[in-house]
Amino acid sequence: MIPTPHIEAKDASVFAKTVLMPGDPLRAKYIAETYLSDVVQVNGVRNMLGFTGNYKGKKVTIMGSGMGMPSIGIYSYELFAFYGVEEIIRIGSCGSYSKDASIYDVIIVSDAFSESSFAAVAFGETAPVIPSHPAVLLDLQEAAKRLGYPTITGRIHSSDVFYRQHGNVFTDVVAPHHCLAVEMESFALFANARKLGKRAGCILTVSDSLVTHEATSAQERQVSFNKMMEIALEAAI
Ligand code: HPA
Repeated sequence: MIPTPHIEAKDASVFAKTVLMPGDPLRAKYIAETYLSDVVQVNGVRNMLGFTGNYKGKKVTIMGSGMGMPSIGIYSYELFAFYGVEEIIRIGSCGSYSKDASIYDVIIVSDAFSESSFAAVAFGETAPVIPSHPAVLLDLQEAAKRLGYPTITGRIHSSDVFYRQHGNVFTDVVAPHHCLAVEMESFALFANARKLGKRAGCILTVSDSLVTHEATSAQERQVSFNKMMEIALEAAI
């Protein structure tokens, strides 16, 4: 089944067993150029750039996922099902719902709540919360500890809607489901991994706050982003 409709590689072995997935394909390029050696581009379809290289002697792939569950749902499914990928770690940003998660904090995702129909439509799975893989969660926590970077572990909300205008997310979602922050991808990634017998995890930096409405500076965003990247790369090897 390779190449797939969305990934052009004709040889599955160009992908590492572990793939790190930022949403932005140009982020994938930046990470590969900054942290990996012997980098080769392994996908360019729709500019959803993917690169494989070495980090501390171990093969790692970094590939964009795009924004939202339909997009990460396609790429993670094809990587797991057709390219022999065993583990995907999403590296992204999120909006904080809580005073406990400030801007630039790094969150390791324990599980994802969603109102999305993704898992129900794809697999008939109707539970609204899907956990990350416990081994990936532990790898991320231990990597952060080794590096001496503080992190917060908790549940996030995977939302289909960025510009939400109906209802009140704090009473409708945050209070009943205990979500620390919001992003738009983890639920679909975790659903695919669980169904296909693979592993998935997620690490996020808080880029904005729905509580304090603080703004971030580009330079500080980069510093906290680099910490998250180092944790994910250490967890991958
Ligand atoms: N909502 C959804 N996804 C996000 C946000 C947000 O506020 N910030 C970063 N990713």
